Amino acid sequence: HEAGLLVVGSVNADLVVRVPRHPRPGETVLGGDLAVHPGGKGANQAVAAARLGAQVAFAGRVGSDAHGSMLVDGLRRDGVDVSLVGTEPGPSGVALITVDGRGENAITVSPGANGRLGPDAAEALEPALRAAAVVSLQLEIPHETVAEIMRRCGRAGTRVVLNLSPGPWAAPTDVWRLCDPLVVNEHEALDAAARPGDGTAESALAPVDRARRIMRGTHAVDARPRSLVLTLGAAGAICIDGDGEPAHVPAPAVEAVDTTGAGDAFTGALAWRLACGDSLLDAVRYAVRAGAAAVTAEGAQPSYPTPDRLPLL
Ligand code: RIB
Ligand code: NA
Repeated sequence: HEAGLLVVGSVNADLVVRVPRHPRPGETVLGGDLAVHPGGKGANQAVAAARLGAQVAFAGRVGSDAHGSMLVDGLRRDGVDVSLVGTEPGPSGVALITVDGRGENAITVSPGANGRLGPDAAEALEPALRAAAVVSLQLEIPHETVAEIMRRCGRAGTRVVLNLSPGPWAAPTDVWRLCDPLVVNEHEALDAAARPGDGTAESALAPVDRARRIMRGTHAVDARPRSLVLTLGAAGAICIDGDGEPAHVPAPAVEAVDTTGAGDAFTGALAWRLACGDSLLDAVRYAVRAGAAAVTAEGAQPSYPTPDRLPLL
């Protein structure tokens, strides 16, 4: 594996139905035809980066079912190196997704094979973790595995991007300190910035103050990421690099059709640009364009742009 981007994480079959509105508990809602897309936050990141021209490998687990081979084939077709994808007996990860008329989604994930990517798998990944310029992770695989991989990256001097999705995760202090950056949306930032006893005041903080607070240390004063990206949807993102001041990057204005996986497109693009040597601010400026493009079409991966489809900032 040449120096490039390595994404370690989840791969799911996305079963998507358009609905006029999301059902409430106990309610039935009639929707449109079922669409099946390759998804999963890890695989999405890898595909987003590959579409944009990245040299990227994905490490994860699929099941021994029909979804498994469909998912590996999809990654390969997009040019993602799949030599670190293993197959576990049993079902692949599945995401049951409904998307309403405003493009908002509700997702239930059955981890399947993703849940069997245990910390013991990290040792076999060691050469790839060492060789990568950047390793990017999310939270649809066991947290102990994420922690183990991050610690190995730390020892190898490999930069780690952690998207705290789906949160929350009160990561051990040493793990928190390896995030460069920690990537959170507004919701995840609430959890990450919450301190015992002041949770109510936290929700009233402006995003930039929430970002500052995370950078000052979350659940413990020494639990500070090296850098932070707080995504704000249509309003762009805020980033803070080390002891620097927060910078706000606006997003291109686009019409939202389906926001599913837009955060993964953002993070995949970000991690790739960091692997290329961009500054955090430049990488965020690029990533907001990838995230914006991804909301303009149906699905997660089907909506990920090639460079010619990136809206201008
Ligand atoms: O972030 C979007 C992804 O979340 C979907 O592709 C789905 O698989 C879930 O994991
Ligand atoms: Na989309």
